[in-house]
Amino acid sequence: MTLTDPAAPAAPAPAPARPWALLAELTHACPLHCGYCSNPLELTRRSHELTAEQWTDVMGQAGEFGVVHTHLSGGEPLLRRDLERIVAAAEAAGVYTQLVTSGVGLDGKRLSALTAAGLRSVQLSVQHADPRASDRIAGRRSFGEKERAAALVRAAGLPLGLNVVLHHENLDAVDAVVELGLSWSVDRIELANAQFYGWGLLNRAALLATRDQLARARDAVERWRERLTPDGPELVWVVPDYFDGVAKPCMGGWGAISLTVAPDGTVLPCPAAASLPDLDPPNIRDRSLAWIWDHSPAFSRYRGTDWMADPCRTCSRREEDHGGCRCQAYALTGDAARTDPACRLSPDHGLVRALAEDSADERPAVRQRAPGRPEKARRLP
Ligand code: SF4
Ligand code: FES
Repeated sequence: MTLTDPAAPAAPAPAPARPWALLAELTHACPLHCGYCSNPLELTRRSHELTAEQWTDVMGQAGEFGVVHTHLSGGEPLLRRDLERIVAAAEAAGVYTQLVTSGVGLDGKRLSALTAAGLRSVQLSVQHADPRASDRIAGRRSFGEKERAAALVRAAGLPLGLNVVLHHENLDAVDAVVELGLSWSVDRIELANAQFYGWGLLNRAALLATRDQLARARDAVERWRERLTPDGPELVWVVPDYFDGVAKPCMGGWGAISLTVAPDGTVLPCPAAASLPDLDPPNIRDRSLAWIWDHSPAFSRYRGTDWMADPCRTCSRREEDHGGCRCQAYALTGDAARTDPACRLSPDHGLVRALAEDSADERPAVRQRAPGRPEKARRLP
């Protein structure tokens, strides 16, 4: 058989590797109003969310498909009264569960029920090390509940991570945030420079750090890395790609290692991909996870390197960073197939440079996340 043999059947495309992680966005509802939230501006209504039975089926399919880890996220997943059933379904399917939570609503009884259902670890968000600043950024009093939640998780013996989204209002508090993590005895501190999707994109001008702030924060992280002992918490610094000139390997590649199921059952290669206008993502109510991963046009759209144009197409880094983030390329250029403008080799890099250089000028107030549409957003007091 030769390549030119007209009778030869087409060789099947190589099956993509199996995903190992599932981001389960159980609800968009949330008691907090953080302006950096990456949830979409149009939040899914509670009446459109998947039921516990449907999530049970998702977890069963995920386990069979080889998924090993699920982040139970939102919004605030604790607002799902049936969360224990979903945790139990993941546990039964052999999928490791991590609860990604604000801590609001996590009392001892709830944590016991979740642990009994098989919950394996918790990631707790905090907005600042200073209680008043944390409450202000979150848009409601919540720091005390977070502190109590951290103590409960520690007492239950579950691994505990602290996640802090960093932006203009809290980047100068890195030392205090690490000290907070140490005093709460966390296993991991994730210093996540804000990414600009959803509400975060709406608030980009208010949230974007300055170069000086970032330089100070980086120095603080380096000092802590020298001070922390090997048995201390792991310190993770999520790079601010607008400033570094380097594209991030977003999601480890499109449809490469993880998938997201949104509250209404839409299945996406990344949580922000719902913003891409012509993606037509599938829904778990209509198709199996295996079909979606292996055959859906949405998942194959930017998989691998064949879709790339220059400069990514011929770049030596294309297998490492996958051309950066598709959602960011779309947000900044209107074309998701372009090189991520965060990359200094991108012909659009000037867009990002201009935003980064402008970031020290006068800022608008943060518009806090609110239910429904952005018109309902509140100004940060
Ligand atoms: Fe990555 Fe493309 Fe930039 Fe090369 S040109 S470094 S592949 S984003
Ligand atoms: Fe969608 Fe990066 S957030 S590809």
